[in-house]
Amino acid sequence: MKIVKTVNEVREIVGEWRKHGLSVGFVPTMGYLHEGHESLIKSAVTQNDKVVVSVFVNPMQFGENEDFNSYPRDIERDSEICEKAGVDFIFNPEVSEIYGKHFSSFVNMNTLPDGLCGKSRPIHFKGVCTVVSKLFNIVCPDRAYFGQKDAQQLAIIKRMVSDLNFDIEIIGCPIIRESDGLAKSSRNTYLNAEERKAAVVLSRSLGVGRELIENGENDAKKIISAIRNEIEKEKLAKIDYIEIVDMNMLQPVNEIKESVLVAMAVYIGKTRLIDNFIFNQIE
Ligand code: PAF
Repeated sequence: MKIVKTVNEVREIVGEWRKHGLSVGFVPTMGYLHEGHESLIKSAVTQNDKVVVSVFVNPMQFGENEDFNSYPRDIERDSEICEKAGVDFIFNPEVSEIYGKHFSSFVNMNTLPDGLCGKSRPIHFKGVCTVVSKLFNIVCPDRAYFGQKDAQQLAIIKRMVSDLNFDIEIIGCPIIRESDGLAKSSRNTYLNAEERKAAVVLSRSLGVGRELIENGENDAKKIISAIRNEIEKEKLAKIDYIEIVDMNMLQPVNEIKESVLVAMAVYIGKTRLIDNFIFNQIE
């Protein structure tokens, strides 16, 4: 599996593909790939002639006290996974290749990044939008694949692509879970055995919320309160947020009248985990 380090080389390879009229799928990642990423890659391989995966732990999307330095990295393992999955190459640049010495242009957005994860991670989505725009301009894919687990990120990227006229189709892929329901995440590796058991409280409490909605409860406060009660049964869990928001602008709703995103971030010990589900009124 070829690991490409420079923007110029990516452009050369993709340029050759373009000359032959080949379509390009792109899966941006921060590496330490798991089955969630593999499912994105699988969709990309099925839907495109060529597939590029980027592995870049983007410093710009981490706050000062976040886990940029300790974020898990294993490019050899990532490379094996990509090779098996039929990826054409990995783009794995150094930070200096992406952010030159005088770097000073950013992509920012109003409103959508303010709530949910943006509340406790105020600079996060500016970093995500900036790096994803750059990666889109470098790889120039036809389609790009993102997981529904980062629901706010997916909504923001779709908005950005539409607002800034990127000619790229954004494909959202379902959350992949462990057998006990925990959403797959590179950060799950931070959990010790006791925390790993406790972490199932995220999906379990979302299940409580879903059941209430399916049984006709439409008062968002009551649903959030039931989810909160379930999480509070777990002593290692500390809630960052639980919110029910509309699917377009991610604004909190009082009543469930249309499709909504039910999303949460919960600390298990020191590890911040996220999970969500979408309730479609037409389901
Ligand atoms: O979802 C991620 O892994 C990252 O936020 C992304 C999209 C690769 C940008 O760094």
